[in-house]
This record gives sequence, C-alpha cells and structure tokens, in this order.
Amino acid sequence: MTHIPVLLEESVEFLLNRRKGGTLIDATLGGGSTTKFILDNLDNTGRVIGIDRDKSTIEFVSKRLNSYSNFTAVWENFRELDVVLNKLQIDAIDGLIGDLGISSMQLDDESRGFGFKSTSRIDMRCDLNRTGTSAYDLLKDLDEKSLKKLFKEFGEEKRWAGRIASEIVTQRLSKPIETPAELAELVRESIPIRFHSRRIHPATKIFQALRIAVNEELESLQEGLEKAIGFLKPGGRLVMISYHSLEDRIVKQTFRKYSRDPDKLLRIITKKPILPTEEEVGRNRRARSAKMRVAERI
Ligand SMILES: C[S@@+](CC[C@H](N)C(=O)[O-])C[C@H]1O[C@@H](n2cnc3c(N)ncnc32)[C@H](O)[C@@H]1O
Repeated sequence: MTHIPVLLEESVEFLLNRRKGGTLIDATLGGGSTTKFILDNLDNTGRVIGIDRDKSTIEFVSKRLNSYSNFTAVWENFRELDVVLNKLQIDAIDGLIGDLGISSMQLDDESRGFGFKSTSRIDMRCDLNRTGTSAYDLLKDLDEKSLKKLFKEFGEEKRWAGRIASEIVTQRLSKPIETPAELAELVRESIPIRFHSRRIHPATKIFQALRIAVNEELESLQEGLEKAIGFLKPGGRLVMISYHSLEDRIVKQTFRKYSRDPDKLLRIITKKPILPTEEEVGRNRRARSAKMRVAERI
C-alpha cells in the first residue's frame, strides 16, 4: 500500500491557488500521491518535478506515474534544488510543496530500520544507495556526552536523555546495539513506567533524534527552503507540512525572516499553521502531529 498523504486537498489547493499550469515542484515525492493529485488538477500547460532522496521511492513512482508525460522524477536531496533545476534548465518555478519526514513505505520496510519492532540493522538512512553515517554508527561511536546532546537537541528528550545515553554506553561495552527493537527496549527500560506516555512509544523521541541526525534533516530543510524562495516567481507559493516542532520552527522562522525587511520576499498566507481535522486524524494517525504553513512570493 502506498503512503496516505496528510492534508492532501488543502495543501494542493494552496499550492495551485486556482492555477492550472506552470512548473510545480514536489520536493518530497514519497509514494507519489501528492504529485498525482497535483497532476490531475493541471491542464497541459503544467508540469511537476518530483524530488526524493530515496532511490527506491523514485523507482516506484516512476512506474506508478509513467502515463503522465508532464511528470519528471529526480533522485536528489531537495537541498540541491538549484542543481536539479539547473540540470532541467528551469530558471523559475510556480510553487513548491514539501511533505516532510518519512513515508509509510519507508517506515513499513522492515529492512530500513525505522520502526520500533524491526529486527534488521538499525540504519535509518533515507538515501540507502549512498554512503553516510547510519544510526548504528552513531549508537556505536558517539561518546556519552554527544549522545545526550543529540537526544536533547534533536529528540527534545529533556528529562531522560542523560540516562538513556548512559545506558547505551554501558550496554555497548558488552555488545553494540544492532536493531531498532533492541534500542526501543533499552529506552523503554531506561524510563520509569510511570513516565511512559499512553499516546506514543517511549522511544519515539530517541528515534526521531537519530533519524534527524542521520539524514541531516534540519540542514536540508533550511537550505532547500532558502533555495526555493530564490526560484519562486511572484505569486508562486511554498507549502510546507511538518511533523515535529524542530521542522515547524525552521519553516516558521524562515517564512518570518523573508516576510520582513531587509529580505522581504514573501507574504505569509497562513498566519497560524493549518492542522488536520479530527476526522482526518481519526482516519490517518500520521496526521496527528502535522502542521502546514504557506507563504507566497511577492
Ligand atoms: C512524508 S513522505 C512524502 C509523501 C508524499 N506526499 C506522498 O504523497 O506519498 C516524505 C518523503 O520525503 C523524502 N524526503 C525527506 N527529506 C528529503 C530531502 N531532504 N530531500 C528529498 N527527499 C526527502 C523521504 O524520502 C520521503 O519519501
């Protein structure tokens, strides 16, 4: 089953803003449903460039959407937006949408090591065919202080970061942590039961921290956003959907910075972030933490 996109109709409505043509970028192609919805709302003067850092995603969507001649899939990190557009000889765009994080397809693929129950090597690299540090490497090599800092900063795990880091360092003296299931259990045991949330797994923040670090998610978002603003035509829109406060803060602060002098390039369309309805959250649990922000190039 492909990924069910969050805030699909609302986000595409903001992106197109009644436009039927133009060059649109889906910076996080995923399973391709957002792109398909955009394509179905364009006439033959419109095209979509879909970018994803995950090669398996690109292969899947290239097949899924091969009947659309106005769709191009590009295997790249969207922080390289300028490189992608230069190669395609595109010098300005009419809008860009980013639906951040990972897809259900990536989460459900046991071998990728994103899920709490996975017994594969804990990897978490989104761009599997590339080199780079995996979560396994971080858990094996970072010293206790750096692990604590990582969990505090990228996981926003204020209270238990130190204890979890210390347990990891003790555990790896006998054997490195190999799998997500082992890490999830270690974290569960490090946090006293009375502090376990009923809503989320106790290891959620630790997994978030590792994923952000492994994939340089925050740096990619910041760079990608800045580049997108530079390529937007006047009236073109940026639509960003984020799933945790670190991402949302970057979107909010970047939009704010570029909506004020001396860098005034954007008009903020959503004064407050748009959230999914309760009905959507009931249908799709992934929607529960989503926030959408929209800005328009002046
Ligand atoms: C939530 S999914 C997108 C789902 C998509 N809207 C759909 O309809 O299926 C996020 C996707 O963005 C990709 N991604 C995350 N950060 C990226 C980045 N910096 N550059 C390119 N792709 C990225 C992930 O690999 C994943 O496939």
